[in-house]
Amino acid sequence: MDKYIVTSALPYANGKLHIGHIAGAYLPADIYVRFLKMNKEDVIYICGTDEHGAPISIRAEAEGKTPREIVDFYHQSIKTSFDGMMIKFDNFSGTAREKHHALSKKFFLELLHNGFINTHSTQQMFCEHDSRFLPDRYVEGKCPHCGADGARGDQCDACGKLIDATKLVLPTCKICSNPPVVRETKHWFLDLTKFSEPLKEWLQTKTNWKDNVLKFILNWIEEGLIERSITRDINWGVEVPIDGTEGKVLYVWFDAPIGYISSTIEWAEKLGQPDKWKEYWLDQNTKLIHFIGKDNIPFHAIIWPSILMGQNEKYVLPTDIPANEYLTIEGDKVSTSRDWAIWVEDYLKYFDGELLRYTLAVNAPESKDADFTWKDFQNKVNNELANILGNLVNRVLSFSKKNFNDTIPYCENLSENSKSVIKDYQALVNEIHQSYKEFKVRKVTKLAMDIARLGNKYFDESKPWATIKENRALAKETIYVCANILKSLSYVFYPILPKSMESLQKMMGLPINSDWENITMLINKDIAIADIYPLFKKIEDDQISDQINLLKTKAKAKEEVKKAEFEPFSPEIDFEDFTKLDIRVVKVLEAEKVKKSDKLLKLLVQIGTEKRQVVAGISQYYNPDDLIGKQIVMLINLKPRKLMNEVSEGMILAAKFDGKLSVLTTEKEMPSGSKIS
Ligand code: 2FM
Ligand code: ZN
Repeated sequence: MDKYIVTSALPYANGKLHIGHIAGAYLPADIYVRFLKMNKEDVIYICGTDEHGAPISIRAEAEGKTPREIVDFYHQSIKTSFDGMMIKFDNFSGTAREKHHALSKKFFLELLHNGFINTHSTQQMFCEHDSRFLPDRYVEGKCPHCGADGARGDQCDACGKLIDATKLVLPTCKICSNPPVVRETKHWFLDLTKFSEPLKEWLQTKTNWKDNVLKFILNWIEEGLIERSITRDINWGVEVPIDGTEGKVLYVWFDAPIGYISSTIEWAEKLGQPDKWKEYWLDQNTKLIHFIGKDNIPFHAIIWPSILMGQNEKYVLPTDIPANEYLTIEGDKVSTSRDWAIWVEDYLKYFDGELLRYTLAVNAPESKDADFTWKDFQNKVNNELANILGNLVNRVLSFSKKNFNDTIPYCENLSENSKSVIKDYQALVNEIHQSYKEFKVRKVTKLAMDIARLGNKYFDESKPWATIKENRALAKETIYVCANILKSLSYVFYPILPKSMESLQKMMGLPINSDWENITMLINKDIAIADIYPLFKKIEDDQISDQINLLKTKAKAKEEVKKAEFEPFSPEIDFEDFTKLDIRVVKVLEAEKVKKSDKLLKLLVQIGTEKRQVVAGISQYYNPDDLIGKQIVMLINLKPRKLMNEVSEGMILAAKFDGKLSVLTTEKEMPSGSKIS
């Protein structure tokens, strides 16, 4: 018997789960674990919420709550969604817990004492407007590697590379959209260069890993590993366990994977065997399998193994990292900011979790992105679950109930045809077994449905409704063979459809989720049939159009809210305050770029009889020539300032929103020098 630790990426406790999460990291793992458990393997399925990181503290600040409140709320919400989807962990913890903090500190200290951590003064993005260091994810710009827009300061989604936030091209602060500045701060770095050789050696044994994963990391190592900072200037997270680190915490990506271990420790404690976790994590024979989405590959395949290698104790390293691609929705990338997502919580208000499990399994984003559409969902439920699987269950069991006195009749001597049908479905069962082992959920699901197809075909061709009248023995044989097919189906489908397959097993009086070994064993006695009922209900067209409308209206509502996200109003002022401002219509006489500045223009303007020089940060929006002769609006009694060595005697007024800028002018032509009041 092998020991397995199966994990799914710890979801951030700052948002709800959407069905893309389920498809990527949770459903495939849950299916795999249920399969292993049927094979009587010694497996624990470990997860928990990822409760640190700047987004949580920023969200808390914005909502006037404590990070703890945010985390507790989403921990619960996420857990409820998992329950509804029948994702069943052996333990579901959270990284803000005391045990996790203690273990993360121990991990840090051992790496430090073992010489794998260095300190450096670093340049960090700092937003002067928000007066805070900006977490990597809160800086956005062009990717320095591939040039794609919208790259975050930690990673570019377009090319998948990790980024040094200060290297982003044209960076902006995601909180306030202003360009941040670079400031110096001291940080602790994990020296990945020291792990380069051991990592290479270890990865050489991983030839069976998925292509997308292997290609990615070998590339990474080839390009040369560098030191990675593992501390951050925020105050929500695991404190750095050494002096002189006030205001700093461990980087969320440093402590998160340690959560796999701390959650296992919690599991062992709940069992009353506090050391039991060691039997898994400290045994080199344990199979450690991390299910993740593709964006998590570098952290799991390079940084996390390095962290493990740097410990005093010898932890097991990942055996496999089946990373999945993304799920798009109705042809479009999931976007939480645009609310282009199907939230699990919403889905569960309308449909059973199992229907989605099937749909996401048969269309799993295993080797490339997969698209979810509501139409396809309806199609899979109606034409596959209901019409093929549900129909077979129903026709076989109701026929048997009616004609064989509420029992499935045992049948001894089988015809050659029946034997060959049995051989065929058993071959499929074996193929399914192998595919489960290889994480090929799409294939498993398809093959399992093929067994049901085969059953229907056999039923149709054998015509028991006709044979029952003239050759009862033949009808009996048909039903017996079909019942064996149903039995196998109830087990091969169990990891994907745990609830309905358990119901099927109950209807047929079969052992619940029995060993895989027994799956192909033929039924050897009469079996009493319990109450039967349809396993899957068809979905009506209007249920589907309702969902499509919901998805679209949700996104539209969000767009409208977004449009209204202008800068907050300033505090009230007195009329006297306003009268202090001398705002005039001015005419642009000359305009040119300020030397060495890509933002500033220098204008010479006419104000009545006077001429003045004014410097304005509008160079990215206006060609100097296009401004000459224009009538614009200027605050003229602002104390003169020097900008890039040029004196500015006033300020040009302009409207700015969402990356657009327009200088102010008056509705009718007015003489220059006209006062604005
Ligand atoms: O990307 C994410 O959602 C992270 N919270 C995953 C963490 S996985 C692990 F390392 F904990
Ligand atoms: Zn800012």
